[in-house]
Amino acid sequence: MSTNKIQFHDLHPSNDDFAADVINGLSQRPAAIPPKYFYDAKGSKLFDAITQLPEYYPTRTEIGILSANTAEIAEHVGTGSLIVEPGGGSCAKVHILLEGLKPRAYVPMDISKDHLQLAAEELAVAFPWLEIHAAATDFTRNIQLPPSTPEGTLVAFFPGSSIGNFDQDGAVDFLTSVAELVGPGGYLLIGVDLKKDKVILEAAYDDAGGITAEFNLNLLANINRELGGNFDLNAWRHKALYSEQIGRIEMHLISQKNQTVMINKTSFSFAQGESIHTENSYKYTTEEFITLAKRAGFQSDALWVDANKLFSVHLFRAQSLSK
Ligand code: AVI
Repeated sequence: MSTNKIQFHDLHPSNDDFAADVINGLSQRPAAIPPKYFYDAKGSKLFDAITQLPEYYPTRTEIGILSANTAEIAEHVGTGSLIVEPGGGSCAKVHILLEGLKPRAYVPMDISKDHLQLAAEELAVAFPWLEIHAAATDFTRNIQLPPSTPEGTLVAFFPGSSIGNFDQDGAVDFLTSVAELVGPGGYLLIGVDLKKDKVILEAAYDDAGGITAEFNLNLLANINRELGGNFDLNAWRHKALYSEQIGRIEMHLISQKNQTVMINKTSFSFAQGESIHTENSYKYTTEEFITLAKRAGFQSDALWVDANKLFSVHLFRAQSLSK
């Protein structure tokens, strides 16, 4: 049930964007599809399941860092702020911050409309004092505050190492748009996965229970349903590998045979062993990430890392334009 504390804005992208991105991506060699299309209703549920996996350390490690340091974060950003969360579809991690930061409002933005609406409604029940201004939007294309958002110091919250799903230049462009959104003196609280042993990384993206494989393959099911595709999910296999040289996990779907796939009226041929590159997840040292954020106009304000050096949470402040 909606309460009058929630404002819901539907700025969801059309299937035309999805079709154009898929047709364009599958026409290239190597073929690639942007990872944002993982997150239909089933994909969002599978991602939530990934975050609970024993191999997938980022979520629980980041939650540990945020929980242990909420008071310190509040000392930096103060109370009464507006927390904006691009990609905050499940509103899960913001729970940790709410009691300590006592923000005036929370603005989650997510491509997965139903997931967002449900989560916002649950949050409103758990935190009846909180104003929620939810926007169903593709924040990689359209990062704007919903018109109903009140005034206040903006704190962009971008947890989960989602920044790792952009390449470096894309990350700088995105963070530049975040710096513009929060304005000079505004904050960015961001979770960033750290470089580490390849064995730990590859297990995190290819779990023994096959949930990440199902998540990757579900992209093809999403294309079949939404764009009239005829991918045979049994003819593709999930693959995850860490490139130490580039510093990123790559996820691929590997064709198990020579095959032709139709999407609506367009056909695409794949040889056995050929890949569709579905995701990159870049890993950074703390120094590398501070340098990257500086390119986007952010100055490091504070940094927290867990005892095992698996994951980092940075607090940045947007520089004033005159600097
Ligand atoms: C959302 N994103 C940060 C996840 C990651 O770790 O790159 C997506 C993911 N893909 C496979 N497992 C998790």
